[in-house]
Amino acid sequence: MSTHATLSGLRIVVSAGPTYEDIDPVRFIGNRSSGKMGFAIAQAAARRGAQVVLVAGPVSLPTPDGVQRLDVRSAAQMHEAVLAQLPADVYVGAAAVADFAPAHPAGSKIKKQAGQDTLTLTLVRTRDILADIASHAQRPRLVVGFAAETDHVEAYARGKLENKRLDLIAANRVGVAGSGFESDDNTLNVYAATGDSKVLGPAPKTELADALLDLVAQSLSRH
Ligand code: PMT
Repeated sequence: MSTHATLSGLRIVVSAGPTYEDIDPVRFIGNRSSGKMGFAIAQAAARRGAQVVLVAGPVSLPTPDGVQRLDVRSAAQMHEAVLAQLPADVYVGAAAVADFAPAHPAGSKIKKQAGQDTLTLTLVRTRDILADIASHAQRPRLVVGFAAETDHVEAYARGKLENKRLDLIAANRVGVAGSGFESDDNTLNVYAATGDSKVLGPAPKTELADALLDLVAQSLSRH
C-alpha cells in the first residue's frame, strides 16, 4: 500500500489519544481513544527519518522508538504543549480532543445528596488546537486533521477541512466495529484542500499510518 517516501529532515508534531476534562478529583469527561492511530503515525514518521514530537493524552501505549513524547491530560494542556512545538513542518492532529470541559471543576469529590436524581454540569468549549495551528503565524507547511464521524462522514469532514483551513483531513467512521477508536484496524477517507480524495484501507492502523504519510510527502512536494 505504501511507497515509504522519506521524511528525513522534517519536524513533525503528532497528537494522539483522548483528553480528560476533570469534573472533580475522581471523575472526568473524555472521548474514546486508545492512541493507536496517532502512535502508529508517530512511529512511521520516525522510521522515515523525521524528527517526531508526539503529544499524547492519557493512554497506556509504549513510546515509539526514536520519538520524543510529551504526556498531557486535558485539552488545555494539549493545546499549550502542541503550540509550544512550533515551528514545525507538519502537524497531524489524531487526538480525540474533548470539545467541552467543565466550567468549574470541583476541588473535592462531589457527593450525592439524599433524594438527588440529576446533576447538572456547565461545560465550556475547549480551544481548537487544529484551527489555532492552521491560523498561526508559524503555521506548519502542512496541517493534517482527523474527523471522527458516526454519519455524513464526507460532508462533515469536508466542512472541517474548510472551516479549520487544513491541507488534508483523514475521516474515519466511529461507532462501528473494525474502524475508528480502539480497534487495531481502520479505514481512512482522506480529503485534500486541492479537491483530491483517496480511500485508505481497511487495513491495520500501522499500515494506514504509512499510507497517510505517503500522501503527506506527496502534498509537501507540491507545496
Ligand atoms: O486512538 P484510537 O483508538 O486509535 O482511535 C483513533 C481516532 C478515532 C481517535 C482517530 O483516528 C481520530 O479520528 N481522531 C480525531 C478524533 C476527533 O476528535 O475528531 P473530531 O472530528 O471531533 O475533531 C476534528 C479534528 O479537530 C481532529 O483532528 C481533532 O484532533 C481536532 N480538535 C478537536 C477539538 C479541539 N478542541 N481541538 C482539536 O485540535
